[in-house]
Amino acid sequence: MSKHDAGRRKFLKGVGIAGAGAAITDHLWTEAEAKEQQAKPNGMFRAGKVVLNVNGEERTVEVEPRTTLLNAMRNHLDPAVTGPKLVCDMGTCGACTVLIDDKPVYSCLVLAVDAANKKITTAEGLGTPEKPNAVQAAFVEHDALMCGFCTPGFVTTISAYLKKNPNPSLAEVKEACKGNFCRCGTYPRVFEAALAAAKGSQA
Ligand code: FES
Ligand code: FES
Repeated sequence: MSKHDAGRRKFLKGVGIAGAGAAITDHLWTEAEAKEQQAKPNGMFRAGKVVLNVNGEERTVEVEPRTTLLNAMRNHLDPAVTGPKLVCDMGTCGACTVLIDDKPVYSCLVLAVDAANKKITTAEGLGTPEKPNAVQAAFVEHDALMCGFCTPGFVTTISAYLKKNPNPSLAEVKEACKGNFCRCGTYPRVFEAALAAAKGSQA
């Protein structure tokens, strides 16, 4: 997609702010992204098959060499993986965070071809609504989200961090989350949830 289609993005963000909610906004956004992808002439870059291991499943996708992992998951996989969100598309906000071989990365900065045959985990792969992981459960319990756009990124980052440091201080949690932005300002509850998840997984 053209990187900074300000009009469309502003409109879609406006829909979210007006109360349609993250899920509807994300759905509209995904549709808009898909349409743009289809409308593009394919002459300059030749698409090829790439095997992505997403949440334990091998998924073959046909993408151009320039396609980011985020774009591949959201617009080329069928069914799409939409936990990672497209917000800044330039590695500043963390909404697109996924784990590659258990390390958090911005999927808008990784090419799909470079993620081939690596273990990719998104928020969907950490737990399910019926069986959330400790961080997902703590986010629900501590009401750690408003619009929810940043939430999958935070959950993914924190889940990886707690594996590395199961008993963090508040300052350490803040440091671990420094690459994730929440425009709704839900930080206190996000940090509360992270600390609660850490305690819960030790109990
Ligand atoms: S969308 Fe990737 S860092 Fe913002
Ligand atoms: S809950 Fe809205 S951006 Fe974080």
